[in-house]
Amino acid sequence: MSDFKERIAAELTAARSRSIAYTDAEDDLLVRQHSPLMSPLVWDLAHVGNYEELWVLRQAGGIAPLRPEIDEMYDAFRHPRADRPSLPVLGPGEARHYIGGVRGRVLDVLDEIDLHGPDPLHRDGFVFGLVIQHEHQHDETMLATLQLSGQAGLVRDGDLPPAGPPGPAEVFVPPGSFVMGTGTRPWAYDNERPAHLVELPGYWIDRLPVGNRAYADFVEDGGYDDPRWWSGEGLHWLRHGRAFAPLFWRRDGGTWWRTRFGRTEPVPMDEPVQHVCWYEAEAYARWAGRRLPTEAEWERACGWDAEAERALLHPWGDDAPGPGRANLGHRAARPAPLGAFPAGASPCGAEQMIGDVWEWTDSWFLPYPGFRSFPYPEYSEVFFDSRHRVLRGGSWASDPAVVRTTFRNWDLPARRQIFSGFRCARTARPEED
Ligand SMILES: [Fe+2]
Repeated sequence: MSDFKERIAAELTAARSRSIAYTDAEDDLLVRQHSPLMSPLVWDLAHVGNYEELWVLRQAGGIAPLRPEIDEMYDAFRHPRADRPSLPVLGPGEARHYIGGVRGRVLDVLDEIDLHGPDPLHRDGFVFGLVIQHEHQHDETMLATLQLSGQAGLVRDGDLPPAGPPGPAEVFVPPGSFVMGTGTRPWAYDNERPAHLVELPGYWIDRLPVGNRAYADFVEDGGYDDPRWWSGEGLHWLRHGRAFAPLFWRRDGGTWWRTRFGRTEPVPMDEPVQHVCWYEAEAYARWAGRRLPTEAEWERACGWDAEAERALLHPWGDDAPGPGRANLGHRAARPAPLGAFPAGASPCGAEQMIGDVWEWTDSWFLPYPGFRSFPYPEYSEVFFDSRHRVLRGGSWASDPAVVRTTFRNWDLPARRQIFSGFRCARTARPEED
């Protein structure tokens, strides 16, 4: 096998070992639905194998279906998450057996396939990139399900660097144009393409994500009771959801506590806030006299090297993320303290844009000019409906294989079971340009 194929095989194994670790539990935990927002874990497990069968074995490898009768059950579009518990899905043992059988054949296809042929699905290993990223994205979803399950002791935690020294609250991005999206990164999704020029006025963006201390100040200032900070839709969400603080927070004895993977602990005030929805982020920003950055502002601050006039793969350059640069890939089960990664700063000086928490932006999830759906419209195109807001940067639960400056995630503005936070921005005043 070539070095490139060896690397693909290693990435496939790494994604699978996460899926196995997150489902190494009693059957009851795997088959139960912990929230109507999520699938039972056993559905995710067989679904990643079924997706791999569909794309690598059948589409790229031309192999006949192994179990055609189960396809329909694992089609995410035919069955919304809320309905999945009623499906006659494979049990945990059967699911493990099925995905293991698929994987064995996938490695055979990898061995034989020409990764330099004309088929865009084969070229540069795109189809393998597709299934590797898909599995990591489901692994992150499984972590969100495990968090909702409230079960203790299943999710590994780890060590992180301490909070960094104090620095400026915000950094300036001068007016100018930059290249947004990509036309060259081989495993980028269709929604990141094509690269296109975007012109922006000067703006300021927070050096760091909004932290728990600042967010608790908003809560304690009566932020959730003051309609001035909330949009009409936000107010509607607030009144129906009866939210009073980020999800998994509660107040007891003058202290804020949070429950994280079944354990209750004081909210660490120096961490980025997580488990807030878009409406909460918007309300906080208004209370703080700021706003959320647009997606373009976020991407420019994260990955544009103005001096070299080029987009970087990561804020610090094109090198892979190391432990000193970002909190990714579930090295710990939480965001890192604020300022923990000065070496991960972007050219404009923004930190922790990659990893820790997904950051809500002000933008709807919409196609870039010249968008072409590939390899199937249900990945991105069906979500271009002005109902989903864009999140950027990946979280502590996201794998480095899925995180880059151009990567776009999206969700409904009311969702907060995901590992979501935000940072604020403001338009520069004329005298600041
Ligand atoms: Fe999926």
